[in-house]
Amino acid sequence: MVALGLLACLAHFVLFTGHTTAAPSASTTKACQDIDSALPDRLSWPLELLYITETQEYWSTALRDLRPACVVHPINTSEVATIVQILNNYPDVNFSAKSGGHDPNPGHGSVQDGVLIALRKISGATYDAETNLAYVKPGGEWNDVIGDLEPYNVTVVGGRLGIVGVGGYLLQGGISFLSAQYGLAADSIVGWDTVMPNGSIINVDASTRPDLAVAMKGSGSQFGIVTQFTIEAHPIGEVWGGLRIYDDTQRETLYTALHNFVPNGAEDPKAAIIFTDVLAVGSIPVIIIYYFYDGSAPPTTGALAQFLEIPALVDQTFPRKYTDLLQSNGAPAALLMSRVSFRTFTIPHVPENTSIYAEIHQYWASVVSKYLDNPLHATAQCSIDYQPVPSLIGQHSQDRGGNAIGLSGSDPNRLFLELQCSWASAGDDDTVYNLTREVTEWLETKIPEWNVQAGLGESSYLPYFMNDAMGDQNVTGSYRGYVGLKALQQEVDPQGLFRSRAGGFKY
Ligand SMILES: Cc1cc2nc3c(=O)[nH]c(=O)nc-3n(C[C@H](O)[C@H](O)[C@H](O)COP(=O)(O)OP(=O)(O)OC[C@H]3O[C@@H](n4cnc5c(N)ncnc54)[C@H](O)[C@@H]3O)c2cc1C
Ligand SMILES: *[C@@H]1O[C@H](CO)[C@@H](O)[C@H](O)[C@H]1NC(C)=O
Ligand SMILES: *[C@@H]1O[C@H](CO)[C@@H](O)[C@H](O)[C@H]1NC(C)=O
Ligand SMILES: *[C@@H]1O[C@H](CO)[C@@H](O)[C@H](O)[C@H]1NC(C)=O
Ligand SMILES: *[C@@H]1O[C@H](CO)[C@@H](O)[C@H](O)[C@H]1NC(C)=O
Ligand SMILES: *[C@@H]1O[C@H](CO)[C@@H](O)[C@H](O)[C@H]1NC(C)=O
Ligand SMILES: *[C@@H]1O[C@H](CO)[C@@H](O)[C@H](O)[C@H]1NC(C)=O
Ligand SMILES: *[C@@H]1O[C@H](CO)[C@@H](O)[C@H](O)[C@H]1NC(C)=O
Repeated sequence: MVALGLLACLAHFVLFTGHTTAAPSASTTKACQDIDSALPDRLSWPLELLYITETQEYWSTALRDLRPACVVHPINTSEVATIVQILNNYPDVNFSAKSGGHDPNPGHGSVQDGVLIALRKISGATYDAETNLAYVKPGGEWNDVIGDLEPYNVTVVGGRLGIVGVGGYLLQGGISFLSAQYGLAADSIVGWDTVMPNGSIINVDASTRPDLAVAMKGSGSQFGIVTQFTIEAHPIGEVWGGLRIYDDTQRETLYTALHNFVPNGAEDPKAAIIFTDVLAVGSIPVIIIYYFYDGSAPPTTGALAQFLEIPALVDQTFPRKYTDLLQSNGAPAALLMSRVSFRTFTIPHVPENTSIYAEIHQYWASVVSKYLDNPLHATAQCSIDYQPVPSLIGQHSQDRGGNAIGLSGSDPNRLFLELQCSWASAGDDDTVYNLTREVTEWLETKIPEWNVQAGLGESSYLPYFMNDAMGDQNVTGSYRGYVGLKALQQEVDPQGLFRSRAGGFKY
């Protein structure tokens, strides 16, 4: 199986390079050569096996089309610092840091004609029981990190699907099954070993750099390359969960249960769901719910219990180890061989209005139907995830020192929406991006009305969630602290190394 996969990679690579015309600049080639001299055996060039496997290991197949000038695999922080120091000598050379490669936005964890700094050799987690701190490296996937911590009966606030990458997830906020108990993943981080834009290594924490310690929680990759996160650990034992799939006849009942679940955090923070409304070609719409309960059995009363009474077509929920749950949640997503887009939107929970989800479904279905109804798009699918963000999560963020997103305990209950599509052909990229844009533009027009219905006045605080966003969304501009954070970024990165030479979300 592995060998076949590699052959497929090679075939794809050879086909693609046959079409490519652009070439890296002379200074980019020179920067790669300097890195190769400074760090022997870490750099690979196009056509070399390590280059090929790294550039083919992106979750969205669209990113496998990008061709860096070279790929470098540093093994520790000082090697990353050496690379950044060399990049400072070449002001017109672009680069990108890649951890898991799960961000589907082209040019974020990938780079055309630049230097790709692949962090896969800087991975794994260790635990210090004396301090209850976990030391988590960015390069692997959540399956590894959670597995490394499990023998100690602890975990960190992390991914819900085990295949997801660690570095990007933690820097862009991170919503978790454990968020109603402890906040976003970033909120539990207390230290960041970071290679700064000038190539120096700083161990950022609240005592040495209080401003950066807030900025690092949700700003993405703009302040430096993080090689280790120090994270407060939390106890974990057997958990209950898995997915259930429902047919269209349960839609209204499920929306009511979702609506009642959103403010549930305060009542039962151990319960979590991802509610996924799926549209696929040639099949009836289905709803998939990923359930989680931090205990070996779910409660028999309350908002989660209300969901569990609804008859499902498929039921894979049961008690198990947390690592088993994350493995099985992630396994189907690992098989998705498609181009993928994410787009995000944040809506308020409107206590008196239960019809919002059906209204969104209808609009979404009408916009994507023209694309999905075409038999040529047989493997395409689109979905909306509803992720409850009770104000309790903001309370945890505030209690843990605050984050860049500006979440606080006085915020309303909200939902983070993720609009996702997957499709096969590069020629359809713009069409599909436009479909999801059309839906968020429509949502924008509904917000003032929903805010009024929720008693929030005409505007309320609805920041975008970076991990689910499309590259053209002004995520940082939606943050309360935008102006101050932008000034801090400019102070730390006066030459604009990260601002103008690496992809990702910017202030
Ligand atoms: C199947 C699936 C499930 C998901 N589930 C969740 C979920 O439950 N909760 C959630 O919050 N999100 C979720 N996401 C979104 C996910 O968190 C983001 O895609 C995230 O960016 C993935 O992290 P990564 O390490 O793979 O990022 P990459 O794609 O490697 O990088 C993303 C960005 O971060 C930068 N970056 C990466 N590592 C570093 C570093 N060490 N230092 C500096 N910059 C860095 C990159 O340059 C890039 O701009 C999911 C995504 C997928 C595909
Ligand atoms: C990083 O790795 C290099 C090469 O093995 C080694 O020489 C160096 O001492 C390491 N640096 C640190 C800080 O561990
Ligand atoms: C983890 O929990 C199990 C089951 O309760 C127990 O047997 C084991 O000793 C615990 N391990 C540690 C390191 O506490
Ligand atoms: C819910 O909001 C929609 C607008 O999105 C509105 O048409 C409807 O009347 C509202 N329902 C209630 C019960 O307020
Ligand atoms: C996508 O939308 C943009 C802006 O409205 C438009 O210029 C472009 O033609 C659209 N592309 C496709 C393929 O629909
Ligand atoms: C993003 O939003 C901020 C705050 O509203 C604004 O100042 C900035 O110009 C916006 N950036 C872009 C690229 O639109
Ligand atoms: C590098 O940048 C950091 C962060 O701004 C700063 O603290 C440090 O003094 C700088 N180092 C040098 C040598 O300029
Ligand atoms: C470098 O990246 C920036 C944006 O990230 C882009 O505008 C620019 O064209 C790129 N430069 C090169 C030489 O590719």
